Amino acid sequence: MDELTERILQLKAEKDAVILAHYYVPGAVQDIADFIGDSYYLSKIAAQVTEKVIVFCGVAFMGESAKMLNPEKVVLMPDLKADCPMAHMVKIRDIQKIRETYEDVAVVCYINSTAEIKAHADVCVTSSNAKNVIAALPNRYIYFIPDEHLGRYISHQLPEKTFLFNDGYCPIHTSIRVVDVLKMKRDFPQAEILAHPECKEEILVLADFVGSTSDLVAYTEKSPSQDFIICTEIGVIHEMEKRSPGKSFHAPSVGQVCPDMKLNTVEKIIYALETFEPAVEMDEVLRQKGLQPLERMLALAE
Ligand code: 13P
Ligand code: SF4
Repeated sequence: MDELTERILQLKAEKDAVILAHYYVPGAVQDIADFIGDSYYLSKIAAQVTEKVIVFCGVAFMGESAKMLNPEKVVLMPDLKADCPMAHMVKIRDIQKIRETYEDVAVVCYINSTAEIKAHADVCVTSSNAKNVIAALPNRYIYFIPDEHLGRYISHQLPEKTFLFNDGYCPIHTSIRVVDVLKMKRDFPQAEILAHPECKEEILVLADFVGSTSDLVAYTEKSPSQDFIICTEIGVIHEMEKRSPGKSFHAPSVGQVCPDMKLNTVEKIIYALETFEPAVEMDEVLRQKGLQPLERMLALAE
């Protein structure tokens, strides 16, 4: 065991801490995490852990959601600057306008959103539970925020609902181009194409399988294929390679790197555990308002 890992183990025991990490953080951070997964899995874990301190290695909306769900815990983030640009891509005024226009509307908020946006929503969803959660809603109209691409992908699976879209997007996933995916497919004709639903529809139609980060990782493990073209952030490849050492994973675009997720480092985790900084702090009124759609998601997703 290296020195940094030893120090982390010591600090975790000393401070009664647990480390949660998303699949997009650097491999070295994934390796020292107690729990790794997609946003849905991590939010469930954050709500349940019994340790006094949660170190959340991801981006701001993930740390905020952990704090909303488990407020008595100290929630530390290795770098508070790690933020998801899409989480800000809807205006509160637009939500209000939709509510004024459509009586029977549910404002469905992708978990990739700020606490303030969640506070104006009826229910949260993640990529792995959006279909089930929305199907369980009594409303005919669904205003899906902030991500247009995930919203459109889910809308095709729920024709009984009328979706209204916002124009938010993930700059990383939408940078993946058809031309690059097709080139990769020419180079590796046997490869299966796997895509996250934040990709543009023109990529999703090419995919053999579409799913959340956890779903994509699980798929590569159980599929008999030896080659995969990965249309999501490249961090997932770390766990894919660990689970299936003989298989090959190809990223079609150089832009498949989320710079915010990569701000998480082992050294920053050590600093956070030593100093209890930076910690996620939240106004209590905002926390309670944002918590409601998160709790509704957890209740409807199962
Ligand atoms: P998952 O919930 O699939 O892990 O996605 C989170 C995310 O930020 C994708 O860009
Ligand atoms: Fe946000 Fe995209 Fe990074 Fe996911 S990959 S955290 S959606 S910017």
